[in-house]
Amino acid sequence: MCGIVGYNGSENAAEILLEGLAKLEYRGYDSAGLAVRNGTNDVEIVKAKGRLRVLAEKTNDGKALKGTLGIGHTRWATHGEPSENNAHPHISDDRNVVGVHNGIIENYQELKEKLLRHDYTFYSNTDTEIAIKLIDYYMKKYQEGPVDSIARAMMRIKGSYALAVMFKDYPEELYVARKDSPMVIGIAEGATFVASDVPAILKHTRTVYYIGNQQIAKIGKGTAEFYDIDREPIQLEAEEVTWDAEAAEKGGFEHFMIKEIHEQPKAVRDTISSFVKDGNIDLSEAGLSEADLAAVRSVIIVACGSAYHVGLAGQYVMEKMARIPVRVELASEFRYRDPILCADDLVIVISQSGETADSLAALRLAKEKGVPTLGIVNVVGSSIAREADRVFYTLAGPEIAVATTKAYSAQLAAVYALAIQLAAVRKQINEEEYHDLIAELQELPAKMDRVLEDKERIQWFAAKYSNAKDMFFIGRGIDYAISMEGSLKMKEISYVHSEAYAAGELKHGTISLVEEGTLVVGVCTQNGLFEKTRSNMAEVKTRGAYLMGLTSYGNYAIEDTADFTVYIPRTSEYFATSLAIIPLQLLGYYLSVARGLNVDKPRNLAKSVTVE
Ligand code: F6R
Repeated sequence: MCGIVGYNGSENAAEILLEGLAKLEYRGYDSAGLAVRNGTNDVEIVKAKGRLRVLAEKTNDGKALKGTLGIGHTRWATHGEPSENNAHPHISDDRNVVGVHNGIIENYQELKEKLLRHDYTFYSNTDTEIAIKLIDYYMKKYQEGPVDSIARAMMRIKGSYALAVMFKDYPEELYVARKDSPMVIGIAEGATFVASDVPAILKHTRTVYYIGNQQIAKIGKGTAEFYDIDREPIQLEAEEVTWDAEAAEKGGFEHFMIKEIHEQPKAVRDTISSFVKDGNIDLSEAGLSEADLAAVRSVIIVACGSAYHVGLAGQYVMEKMARIPVRVELASEFRYRDPILCADDLVIVISQSGETADSLAALRLAKEKGVPTLGIVNVVGSSIAREADRVFYTLAGPEIAVATTKAYSAQLAAVYALAIQLAAVRKQINEEEYHDLIAELQELPAKMDRVLEDKERIQWFAAKYSNAKDMFFIGRGIDYAISMEGSLKMKEISYVHSEAYAAGELKHGTISLVEEGTLVVGVCTQNGLFEKTRSNMAEVKTRGAYLMGLTSYGNYAIEDTADFTVYIPRTSEYFATSLAIIPLQLLGYYLSVARGLNVDKPRNLAKSVTVE
């Protein structure tokens, strides 16, 4: 997720663009850049690695760049590490076309090869540079102007994009286009504003056009003309924005956490699309060949917090599906206990930020011992991503809320991919099972959307129990791993004392804490364990617990025991965590809201834990 801004008016563009970018910094901020045109002069481009203020300092808050037409970008790397070279805007070889882009171009490799055949050269590792040069290629080949060249490029590009582009021979115009990436166009007197999101333009206007998928706009000074992908002019209706600026930044949601909970289907879909190619799992982008996986004798997953819980769920999936031994370790423990590691182990470090001090230290320890390492990381170019032998990037986009949701879900998708691939190379599943599992995986995002549709019931339940003091989450197998994450979400943002217990372990001590009205959540997604956990739920109920049951549609017998039940769509039992976690995230979220707490920034916690 990156942020785009554009301006065409009569004031100094760079200052306005920087202000707009500041409102989009929540979308990612590893580097930023500006391109400004001053009439027919050559375009001026300034880029900087790091936060936006580095770019602001470099350009004297934009005053150093002169011109009334321009584009800007704040980047969250998906292709190519964060660096000045990879930062946007990108420009064609002869400075004819310059542009910024948000999204992911899936067939960038094929397009790059095409352009290389036509003598284009490349200076960055970004898919954006390819898009800009493709537009330049069509501009020169057909000589039918900007709308035509953009439309032709759009027909070739697979993936998602929002593009803002300027052309040397059209010094008074800006062109934008989009598919599956957001873009809004704001019109004011004598000036037009472009942005990935409304907050960037609210200071200037509330009259906006939401440009549709596969549409193109030609932006003048206070004007916008629209075209479809066949270059036919189309009419769009202007709309008035009624949100306040803060609400707009969160896309209309009250908090970043609930916004990110809703972004989970997309995070999982994007991550799955990065490794499913032509119906098969292809981990070559993570540098993992089938031979590499076949050589692995055992897996050690090391992580902290929620990422550790991904490892726990992954352990059940990998061991059962691929019949490979898996150990899961807390990074803070692993690093101090001189772990026994062998050269044919694979150490997987899971981390959203890629900067967690203990996880990084664990990675370094594994490397010192000569064991192959793989990072499952969300932040491109982070320390763990740089230092691991191989990196499997999750495509969750920037996560702002301290409590992780969408990064956790994307990490799960990555772990499933490894499990399926390990199972295939170890011949634990046949061809048909392999493809069935991939198909099931691809259905997860739509099923996650269905779970989200049921959120009002959880909101109601959370409001009713907002005074809860103690809570227990119980389950067996994968359901225990789900319980651990549900319990963590509850305590970290709602400050309710909560514990996760392996359901069969309750009566070895903890059950003595259960009294009249104690809230217990029983997680029962695994058919073979359903009756076992249900009988543990009955045990706590007879001691006065109020019971919430969480299971799949069809398991209606749970209503004989639970006082309140939440159902999730049926899926392969291996992937149940991805669906069952959503109601538990929502429960933690709504309880926190009902208690009037600071959901996005819970007390004493930081998003990235860079100290041990
Ligand atoms: C909980 C949470 C933390 C992180 C943990 C690891 O909601 O977000 O428990 O999962 O601090 O962080 P990363 O994944 O950045 O290594």
